[in-house]
Amino acid sequence: MTKRVVTLAHYYTQPEIQQMADKVGDSLELSLYAREAEADIIVFAGVRFMAETAKILNPQAEVILPDAGSTCSLVTQTDVAALKAWREEHADYVHVSYINSSAEHKALSDWIVTSRNVDDIIAHLYEQGKKVIFSPDRNMGAYLNYQYGYDMPLWSAVCEVHDKFNEAALNEALSAVTGKAHLIAHPESPLPVLKRADYVGSTSGMLNWVKQFKGSPEEVIFVATEDGILYNMSQARPDLDLRQAPIYAGCQCNSCPYMKMNTIEAVKRAQQGGGTHIDYLSTEQMDAARVPIERMLEFSQ
Ligand code: 13P
Ligand code: SF4
Repeated sequence: MTKRVVTLAHYYTQPEIQQMADKVGDSLELSLYAREAEADIIVFAGVRFMAETAKILNPQAEVILPDAGSTCSLVTQTDVAALKAWREEHADYVHVSYINSSAEHKALSDWIVTSRNVDDIIAHLYEQGKKVIFSPDRNMGAYLNYQYGYDMPLWSAVCEVHDKFNEAALNEALSAVTGKAHLIAHPESPLPVLKRADYVGSTSGMLNWVKQFKGSPEEVIFVATEDGILYNMSQARPDLDLRQAPIYAGCQCNSCPYMKMNTIEAVKRAQQGGGTHIDYLSTEQMDAARVPIERMLEFSQ
């Protein structure tokens, strides 16, 4: 019998890959889609933690990552043994972890969040009088502490792509614009950049902001995130002057090497059953990681 294949792609993949997908979205949308997908095979054109999350949420499906190298610096910069010790030092805290984390990391967490629901989930915990520790993204945590006056102890890993955006290059680019300029940014960016932003949010959140933009087409919109989503933004609003925020003067060139490993050949091969099968997580590991993920999905629905 022919196998039912569902292909998912994150916004940071190349346009050609997005066109091969049944669903394109942010981490939260793709997790929800993967959980409900009636598929024998889920090809995840994204990075490993996304494919692992899909497997945890839909363990019946065979989940395939097109390229074994598609990791994420937030995962590789986090030593799980050290994280466990840090978590134990803060035994009376609620541990909130960003979805950009390994399955083992998730199993050491009370809640998983994505960039779309992190503000609401942490606000909910503070409303209940909880003390919160946040991992692994130091930039995102610093932004939450700054924006809402929290005092969360933070783990210290960064997204190697977003961490490159910098204030000096941004100031130079903004001052070169004669008319009005705006900045929208992903919360993995450094705090000085986020402080300048008109909007901070997930990839889908930024895309919606652009779709709903009501200013004049002469106004410039700088986007501090990975370059892939500029395709979706310019498809949705070809009338706007959209520019990727610079990482140094004159360079609009920030791209995630791991997302870009999803080549056409690798995705086609995965759709035929080749590639990295996410079949190495034990039932116990998946059961433990599923608890904080499901807690988030229930909160966000
Ligand atoms: P989103 O959930 O906002 O799509 O972010 C995923 C990601 O890896 C950003 O670098
Ligand atoms: Fe990870 Fe950054 Fe790439 Fe997103 S853009 S997958 S956070 S390395």
